[in-house]
Order: sequence, then C-alpha cells, then structure tokens
Amino acid sequence: MINSPTSVAVLISGNGSNLQAILDYFNDKPDVAKIIAVISNVDGAYGLTRAQQAKVPGIVIDHKAFSTRQDYDQALLETLTELQVDLVVLAGFMRILSEDFVKTWEGKMLNIHPSLLPKYKGLHTHQKALDAGDKEHGASVHFVTPELDGGPVIIQSKVPVFEDDTTTELAERVQQQERNIYPLVVDWFCSKRLVMVNNKAVLDGNELPESGYAAD
Ligand code: GRF
Repeated sequence: MINSPTSVAVLISGNGSNLQAILDYFNDKPDVAKIIAVISNVDGAYGLTRAQQAKVPGIVIDHKAFSTRQDYDQALLETLTELQVDLVVLAGFMRILSEDFVKTWEGKMLNIHPSLLPKYKGLHTHQKALDAGDKEHGASVHFVTPELDGGPVIIQSKVPVFEDDTTTELAERVQQQERNIYPLVVDWFCSKRLVMVNNKAVLDGNELPESGYAAD
C-alpha cells in the first residue's frame, strides 16, 4: 500500500524563514509531507508571501478579531479540522495557545524555540544568553505540551557565542541552525519515525534523552 503524504499546517506570525526551509525541503519529498496551509495570526506577515510564492494557501486568522483566547483557539481548531491536518508546525507563531487546544493536538504539534531548552523559556532568549555570558546558545525543536516551551525536546543545535556578539548576530547564527533542524524533525514525524509517548519524544523506537537527538 502506498502511504499518502502527511498533511501539515504551518502557523506563523512573521518572517517565515523556518516555513521557507520546510517548503523547500518538502518540495523534493512530496511523498512524505504536503504543506496544505500556512496560517497566520497577523495579516501581511511576510510568511504569507512565501506561501503564495510556493502556491500554498495562506489563511489569516487575525487575533484582533476575537475577544478571548478561547474564541481564537476555537476558530483555529475549526480551520485545522476542516483542512484535515495531521501535523501542526509552529514556526514563529507568537501566540500562547490555550490548554484545551494544546491537549487536542498533543503529540501532533511541534515548535521551534530559540534557546537550548530548558534554558530561557519565553521571549528575548538571545539577550538572555548574552546577559548570562553563555559560551554557547542554540535552538530546540520540541513537542508542544501545556507547559510553555516545556514539551519533550526532539533535537537541539548549538552555536558558539562570541564576546562581541550583538543580539542580531547571535539570532542570525541560531536561525541558520533552525533552518537545518526543523525540516528534519518534520520529516521524522511525517515518515512515522517520531512519536510522543508518555511525554517523551521517541525516535525509531528509542526514547530520546532530555536534550534530544543531537545532544553531545
Ligand atoms: C525563530 O527564531 C523561532 O525560533 C522563533 O521565532 C523565530 C521565527 O523566525 N520561535 P521565522 O519567522 O521562521 O523567520
């Protein structure tokens, strides 16, 4: 039996460089995953232009049109259900999702976070790494669970921090790595090699350590 590609929705709020990396990667692997929609909470986000260029439907669900988080998440849920999405990929989606929404998608929703989790959850991670005088920094891809940036890590990529780094330079170094690791993780999931079991990431039947696959 030939398996059909996994249907993926990518959620964004801005530039969409991770989205671009994922679109490019699966251009060459259409049998593994199909990016069926790009959903943005921000009208005019550049990621929507990237979607259009890739001929992927772009959908705006503007958070400003909803009075509560529950209402917003309900609209998002309805859209994802209608589209028959198998995997939700958060790629710079700058909204906190409600617990109910996250539970509905548990084990089927990924996020990329610009730090070596569990360090520096939340915002301003590059500044935090500089302020702390860290010698290394990086990015983590993880399953999304109700704890903010707290789900099981699948892979991390480390970069050096140089003494005279600005946040912009450090962010760019981290983001280059993000574009390498995120498509790979989406591939693992869509190829059915990666699952979440009992709040752990499991790759090829092996439970991954706390810092994920690429830990050294
Ligand atoms: C990335 O740094 C990601 O780690 C964070 O938001 C940023 C999104 O960048 N969650 P882009 O929109 O993919 O270019």
